[in-house]
Amino acid sequence: MATEATDQPTTHEPSLWQPRIVALLCNWCSYAGADLAGSSRLRYPATVRIVRVPCSGRIDPLYVLRAFERGADAVLVAGCHIGDCHYAEGNYYARRRMTMLKELLAFAGVPPERFWFRWVSAAEGPEFAHLIDEITQKVTPLGPYKPELREKFLLLDDLIQALESLEAEEPVCQHIAPPSAPVVEATAEVQPATADPDEAAGEGEV
Ligand code: FES
Repeated sequence: MATEATDQPTTHEPSLWQPRIVALLCNWCSYAGADLAGSSRLRYPATVRIVRVPCSGRIDPLYVLRAFERGADAVLVAGCHIGDCHYAEGNYYARRRMTMLKELLAFAGVPPERFWFRWVSAAEGPEFAHLIDEITQKVTPLGPYKPELREKFLLLDDLIQALESLEAEEPVCQHIAPPSAPVVEATAEVQPATADPDEAAGEGEV
């Protein structure tokens, strides 16, 4: 993926420090949006590390916690807008899981500025660049990831694993290949999105 980012140093010196943002992006929309930002030569801070996943519905909340545990200062989860998921319902799963995760993080005292959940389409390159800019601005004053948060994340880790064992009978979106499977190329045929009773609850940010 081509990205155009300002090449500024990431150090712990207060005046120069920039956060490390891990972005978990769905392949079909948000990753394409990030790619568009790059190919359009839009400039945004070089603070983001992108991880491409098949669909936001494949993102386990543990991925977010692992990123924090391994030194991310903020985590962004982004997927297709509601109704646009290439697997029809993956982002509905993501919305439920990430809403739950956001509440758990808040419960553990993690500032909301450290976790972001957004919809970014393939045509929203400028929006992606703006989002990275916004996250960087919000997280920079918080400073780097603090090792003392590790205990909180481990506690959440246990909580989430317990919750997942409860819902083991009905795992993540059945239409999406497991994470180990290679990402397949786009086909002309895309399944239509199914109606979801939660849609009335609103879309976009959590
Ligand atoms: Fe993008 Fe499912 S393919 S959210």
